[in-house]
Amino acid sequence: MEKFSIVISGGGSTFTPGIVLMLLDNLDKFPIRKLKFYDNDKERQDTIAQACEIILNEQAPEIEFLATVDPKEAFTDVDFVMAHIRVGKYAMRELDEKIPLKHNVVGQETCGPGGIAYGMRSIGGILEIIDYMEEYSPNAWMLNYSNPAAIVAEATRRLRPNSKVLNICDMPVGIETRMAEIVGLESRKEMNVRYYGLNHFGWWSSITDQEGNDLMPKIKEHVQEYGYVTDIGDDQHVDKSWNDTFLKARDVYELDPTTLPNTYLKYYLFPDYVVNHSDKEHTRANEVMEGREKVVFGEAKKIIEKQSAKNCKFHIDEHASYIVDLARAIAYNTQERMLLIVENNGAIENFDSTGMVEIPCIVGSNGPEPISIGKIPQFQKGLMEQQVSVEKLVVEAWIEGSYQKLWQAITLSKTVPSAKVAKDILDELIEANQKFWPKLG
Ligand code: NAD
Ligand code: G6P
Ligand code: MN
Repeated sequence: MEKFSIVISGGGSTFTPGIVLMLLDNLDKFPIRKLKFYDNDKERQDTIAQACEIILNEQAPEIEFLATVDPKEAFTDVDFVMAHIRVGKYAMRELDEKIPLKHNVVGQETCGPGGIAYGMRSIGGILEIIDYMEEYSPNAWMLNYSNPAAIVAEATRRLRPNSKVLNICDMPVGIETRMAEIVGLESRKEMNVRYYGLNHFGWWSSITDQEGNDLMPKIKEHVQEYGYVTDIGDDQHVDKSWNDTFLKARDVYELDPTTLPNTYLKYYLFPDYVVNHSDKEHTRANEVMEGREKVVFGEAKKIIEKQSAKNCKFHIDEHASYIVDLARAIAYNTQERMLLIVENNGAIENFDSTGMVEIPCIVGSNGPEPISIGKIPQFQKGLMEQQVSVEKLVVEAWIEGSYQKLWQAITLSKTVPSAKVAKDILDELIEANQKFWPKLG
């Protein structure tokens, strides 16, 4: 059986150890000969890499391992690039969240002005990684889950239209895991779903079991009362603030009981609620720095000290196994049906054909084939047209270095009440992002 070579880009990510354990757990389905880490922060990556090297030596010493900040070393001889970079790291995420909140606007990693600011930072970083991949391993595929995925996907459509890049998100996976629990199925894979929207901005319109029975009524009954809060949940979104988000899906659902919503819609449909329930001094970035980042780096340091990963607290990121499913679909032409962020191209009949939409696709060796969705209702269409315009304007602003377009983008976001507030936030974001954004004129 062929064995694959992978580079994890953003090797210093808090998600890297969980992904490595997940890859090790799936070696029978997806054999690996070489695993490399690439990051532009050597010190951060080294801690994670030294710990992961110990894990690899214990579990699969035959896999060649290398951690590097040298692009040529990293991207030479690879079949897959798994990318999860965060340009500006948590320090900038904190500002993305706190600057809008100061103006009583949603402060969120991927939504509203914070997501736009993050997008303006991410585009350059992602294009750089695509270019390294194409220079050193032109046959490789990039599986990208770096955020904000909607803006990154639009940027790759505009600026690298022929590159082998697949943009993916784990939120529907997490929600579907909960849906499966609600209807008493072992796995979300026992459900067949129809879903449409943009990234972090979509709806399920049908969910059936393998015999074709409609599962929507039972799930709706649950969501009406508890949102997506369940007894077990998924293995990633475990903090209390996530629980609040899953519960709030109840109110989002009420707006259109014919579909089931993505959790992220709360930021667009209930921004006043979100702002009123935010702590302006202590946002999700602080929670993550005090929680996941501390735990992951603390655990890595313990492994390095003991030179052993025995009894270590790292756990397999089961939710992330969809990344292996995607790699397998490409490598073995499995024709698996998966949600991906792809150019609409007529799949949603009454929506911009150039919009990057999140819809089910059949994935094989030649990439994704989107499934036809047909016409979507006016409510979703209206919301999506506004949001896709935000995403397109951000990418145009980045390409042209246009202050005007970025101001328009922020103004158009449903999270922002006026052009004046948009300008005030933009001017502060420009100050904060001097090191990362192109110059705007
Ligand atoms: P993190 O800050 O812990 O890790 C990101 C790493 O990227 C850091 O080590 C940083 O040094 C590195 N990096 C930054 N810029 C880089 C560049 N230009 N080149 C190479 N490396 C660079 O962040 P995290 O919380 O672990 O999240 C990582 C990423 O994964 C984020 O973009 C996050 O939004 C994304 N994510 C996406 C999904 C999804 O559904 N698509 C799910 C979870 C996380
Ligand atoms: C979900 C989304 C990701 C996002 C993550 C944030 O999984 O799909 O796109 O990055 O949540 O989680 P965090 O714990 O960093 O707030
Ligand atoms: Mn996501």
